[in-house]
Amino acid sequence: MAMGILWFKSRLELKLFSIVIIIVAGFTALILFTINKETEDLIKKTREKASFLTTSVVTSLQKDMIEGRADMARWLIEDLKAMKGVERLQIVRTDGTEAFQDLITIRDVEKRTVIKKEWLENHPDKANNIAKGIDHAVFKDLLKKGTAATVEYNEKVEGREVFTFLKPIANESRCFGCHGSDKNLRGILMVSISVDKDMQSIRWHLIITSAITVAIVIAFLRALTNKIILNPITHLVDVVNKISMGEIDKKIEIKSNDEIKDLADAIDRLRTSMKMAIEKLYKR
Ligand code: HEC
Repeated sequence: MAMGILWFKSRLELKLFSIVIIIVAGFTALILFTINKETEDLIKKTREKASFLTTSVVTSLQKDMIEGRADMARWLIEDLKAMKGVERLQIVRTDGTEAFQDLITIRDVEKRTVIKKEWLENHPDKANNIAKGIDHAVFKDLLKKGTAATVEYNEKVEGREVFTFLKPIANESRCFGCHGSDKNLRGILMVSISVDKDMQSIRWHLIITSAITVAIVIAFLRALTNKIILNPITHLVDVVNKISMGEIDKKIEIKSNDEIKDLADAIDRLRTSMKMAIEKLYKR
């Protein structure tokens, strides 16, 4: 028997194993495709989530403001900040400060109307109030242009991949009573949602399960091809070798019901007729 290549006992085994490898390669390609697809879906979903959140925050903020409930708007933002996956949710004023974190706007509104006491309830008053994430070029650009269009982009926040949505909040005539008419924008709503963690856990989950599956499939197929094909053939080669060296008395036995069994039977018939021929020869 020829020496195996690498750890293969025979050339046939190598050939059979190549088939297994081709199947496994196809399977791996399928898995990679699935991972890719899952990632795309997740990105799409995150984007939809951010877009939905942005629109609903602006709608309820406008409603709260018009109803004279600036405090409700503040609490809404505060509550949403704690939502899972929300990296950042804030309204950035046109000067780069974060809304609802100091009393500047309330003091400004005070010039035009009587302020309500609930607006001030538990109100933070930070001295150095600067919003996070305002250094991004897209944000700066939007602030400069002052348009009402929604903008979205990807960025990294503390090593995490996030989607950021920017939705400018226009200063409309119905807002002038409290806010005055000097500015076009009341601020920009910034919603950043992280995707990385989910994406990575899905990826790792798929990679690990498929690696285990592939290993099991390879081991199983090898054992199967060894049992069904390789072992009987190796046995046959052995027997035929022995016959050629004169051992023609032993019956060949193969316990299967396939073509290898047919081959074994044929060889066995050959052996018996050889045996008879030799015996005839000796009797003469
Ligand atoms: C009844 C008065 C009133 C009206 C009308 C009003 N607001 Fe306000 N608004 C306030 C007060 C008070 C604050 C400050 C709240 C705080 O700092 O806690 C505020 C804050 C804001 C902020 C946060 C940014 C900042 O400058 O501090 C935005 C954005 C905003 N208003 C948008 C609007 C829009 C849009 C309208 C019109 C659809 C509107 N408001 C109408 C009272 C009003």
